[in-house]
Order: sequence, then C-alpha cells, then structure tokens
Amino acid sequence: MAIRKAMVAGNWKMNGSLELVKQMSDAINNVKSKKIDVVLFPPFPLVSALIASGVSTGTQTISEYKPGAFTGEVDAQLVKDLGAEYVLVGHSERRSIYNESNSTVAEKFSRAQQVGLTPILCVGESESEQENGKTELVVAAQIDAVIEKIGVAALKDSVIAYEPVWAIGTGKTASPEQAQNVHKFIRDKIAALDSDLAQGLTILYGGSVNEKNSELLFAQADIDGGLIGGASLKADSFSAICESAKGTL
Ligand code: PGA
Repeated sequence: MAIRKAMVAGNWKMNGSLELVKQMSDAINNVKSKKIDVVLFPPFPLVSALIASGVSTGTQTISEYKPGAFTGEVDAQLVKDLGAEYVLVGHSERRSIYNESNSTVAEKFSRAQQVGLTPILCVGESESEQENGKTELVVAAQIDAVIEKIGVAALKDSVIAYEPVWAIGTGKTASPEQAQNVHKFIRDKIAALDSDLAQGLTILYGGSVNEKNSELLFAQADIDGGLIGGASLKADSFSAICESAKGTL
C-alpha cells in the first residue's frame, strides 16, 4: 500500500452512546497521525458529538433523494453541513436487510458526491456466491452499477471497501491472500478504464478485522486499510488496528 495513504474506518452500526463517543475520540486523538486517515461511522444522532470531539466522521447511509417528503430519511446535504466528510453506501446490511439494489446504491453514491461527501462503496459476495466461484462476477456488477451511472472518473473521489458478506460479524476473516486477490481484481478492473485513477484509489478490506489479523491484511499490496465493525466499538482494539495500519506504510 506504499503509494496510497492508509485509512482505518470504524462502522458502529446500530451501536454506540455518548459515553462511547468520549472513549473513542480520546483513543483516536491519541493515535492520529499524518500517515493514516481514521474515520468513524456512528448512528446519526451521534454524528455532531463525534465531529465536535475532533474525529473525522461519516454516516452509515444517506437518502438517494433531495430534501422532500421522505419520512425517516436523512439528506446528504444536511450531513455535509454538520461537518461529516464520508458516507458508507451499499453496506451489505443495507443491501440485504433494506433491499438496496445496485442501482439505488449508485444513486446514493452520486448524491453523496453532489454535496461533496466522499462515498465509501461497499462491495462483496455472499457465502454461496463465494462457494460457487462468483466473487468476481458479483463484485464487478456492484462496481459497474456506479460506473454506468456516473462514469469511471467519479471513482477518483471515492473509496471502495471489499467486504465478503460471509466474513462480516462472523469471526471468519478472508485470508490475506484471498483478500489481496479480490483487491487486485478490483484495481485491475478499474485500471483497464483509467490506470492513474486505479493506482490512487483507496481500497479497504472489511469483515472480522481485529488487532490480531489487521497487520497481515494491511501488508498486502492492494489493501489500503480496513473497514472495522465489532472491533471499532472497543477503544483498545481499534487503536491497535490503527497502529498496525501505520506500520504498513
Ligand atoms: P465486522 O463488520 O468487523 O464486525 O465483521 C465489518 C462491517 O460490517 O463493516
């Protein structure tokens, strides 16, 4: 990952509290360094508190629509105005539990960029897709939906997170080689359209990353950091993961 700056992102999902904001912001302010971008994705009500405590922040989703009659949804512009910098789009839980299609995810990606948020596009195959050798097919379709909607150039101001669904929250991490192969596939696929863009693109790995496996994963040539779920709720683990990302530069 030497060419690109490392990133460690923490996805709190529907967890967290004002107390956790305090603990995690203290921990992150201690590990902060020019060598890595550290970003947290808390539930919406905690976004302002996290930003106020000096942590780079994103949201776990946004609406694909502009402001209007969409009860319960959150507008990207408002998120940006609060001071958030990033947004996750297409996390596997959004795709599977809330039925977000590749096309909706592409609309959210586009809406994020319209207001100046950096989208982190989450892609990854399910267990049965993996067993049937469909990983590359699935990941390619998820990325192509965005490229077809807004063009490959839009990927320049974005991040991709490869998260095999079978590895999320299961304790079953992809091996460093397995993850590297998919990351290389993603980078090569984009390089075929724009090689400079592909070389500069940050590609994160996610799925049961912890302080014990992060170093080897992050040491892979095409893995630029991680998207961390469970371990981002524990200050010690998350700090150790951030430290291991610094070491791989
Ligand atoms: P996990 O979650 O680290 O708990 O597997 C990762 C994610 O869902 O982004």
